[in-house]
Amino acid sequence: MEEVLREIYCALDQVLRKGAYINIVFSGEFKHRSAVTFVVKGVVENYFSLKYALETLAPRGVKPALKPLLMAAMFMLKHGEIPGYAVVNETVAFAGKKFGSGVKGFVNAVLKKYPTLPEPEGIQKREAELNAPEFIIEALEKDGVDPKTVLRPPASDLVHFRLGRKGKTEDLSGLETLTRSEAGGWFSMPDTRLKELNASGKITFISPSSMECVNAFGDINGKKYLDVCAAPGGKSVYAAEKGAEVTAADLYPHRVKLIEAYADRMGVKLNALQNDALCRRQEWLNAFDCVAVDAPCMGLGVISYRPDVTINKRPGDVETIVPVQKAILSEAAEYVAPGGRLVYSTCSVLKAETEEVIKDFLKKHGDFSIYSYKNNTDFGRLIMPDGKWDGFFICVTEKKK
Ligand SMILES: C[S@@+](CC[C@H](N)C(=O)[O-])C[C@H]1O[C@@H](n2cnc3c(N)ncnc32)[C@H](O)[C@@H]1O
Repeated sequence: MEEVLREIYCALDQVLRKGAYINIVFSGEFKHRSAVTFVVKGVVENYFSLKYALETLAPRGVKPALKPLLMAAMFMLKHGEIPGYAVVNETVAFAGKKFGSGVKGFVNAVLKKYPTLPEPEGIQKREAELNAPEFIIEALEKDGVDPKTVLRPPASDLVHFRLGRKGKTEDLSGLETLTRSEAGGWFSMPDTRLKELNASGKITFISPSSMECVNAFGDINGKKYLDVCAAPGGKSVYAAEKGAEVTAADLYPHRVKLIEAYADRMGVKLNALQNDALCRRQEWLNAFDCVAVDAPCMGLGVISYRPDVTINKRPGDVETIVPVQKAILSEAAEYVAPGGRLVYSTCSVLKAETEEVIKDFLKKHGDFSIYSYKNNTDFGRLIMPDGKWDGFFICVTEKKK
């Protein structure tokens, strides 16, 4: 069991302490993949319940490096198939080897007391049930949204993907529950064949909500298209496949490489480059028919496949990110040619990041007006996560001719 614990600990430590995305961590190599997935996903999905447990059982605090191990062991005690005594003994032994024998008594005491822990109450109960910090729950409530719809979205067995240029409808024959999505992609049950088709660029997994961010521009064939926050490239590559002449920019050079690799895999050409969307680029002024701002955001719409989204958030994060979203949108507006379109999207549904950003934008940019693409609010289309669709906000604006 020591080897399994080591893999679980390393994966969980990356997510909990180093802020790595759970889906990226899972794309690594694991000898004990099913155990790692079960425990790491389980801990992340029950993070606030386990956080309450640690705070109650060890009120004087726990060394940060020990937390992933204790949380993994507590999750296994409650949900795993290994007998409790074995989980405790193996975890204590592992802790001794990794952190020195001085921690063994502490680890043993915490794990032995865990089964007798009283249920949380009040705020801690809400945080545990919704697996999110209170400030996020309150922000959703303030917006008139039932926090459960966003923080505990229903699960779906189906996956969504679209055909790439190399793929044909025949490649999909025999897939279980194959149906078209409104966005132009397909839903089906997961299948190992899909993984192969994805690796060869015949299909690509993408949320229908993401596709709609590009569909919202209308016909983009032959148009000059700029994506100022493009990595890892889902929307830019789709836009290139729809015939646009795409410039795909991102702040981080290592993320620009992801766009290039994605475009290569799908067999499309685009111009990927490093660029800070907050710094004006003279040669781009009024130069693009379509400009996409898929802004960095709180990510609350994608919890169904990124359950880690809520665990590293701090009060003040919304107040920090909103001015960045406003500034990126404002700069991007300068690159839209007269008569062109600007699409602002977020995989988040908080009003502060969505309609408040647009209200502010329209106030400062009298040359832009809202264009309705399936709008269900005054400011754009708000998609609530439902297991099949990610939560998204999409706003299309048009620049005066
Ligand atoms: C929501 S993600 C974009 C997802 C992408 N549009 C897709 O469909 O694959 C936001 C991106 O904005 C980038 N970003 C953040 N700040 C930026 C800035 N100042 N300039 C350019 N890109 C930035 C991040 O690196 C991240 O890749």
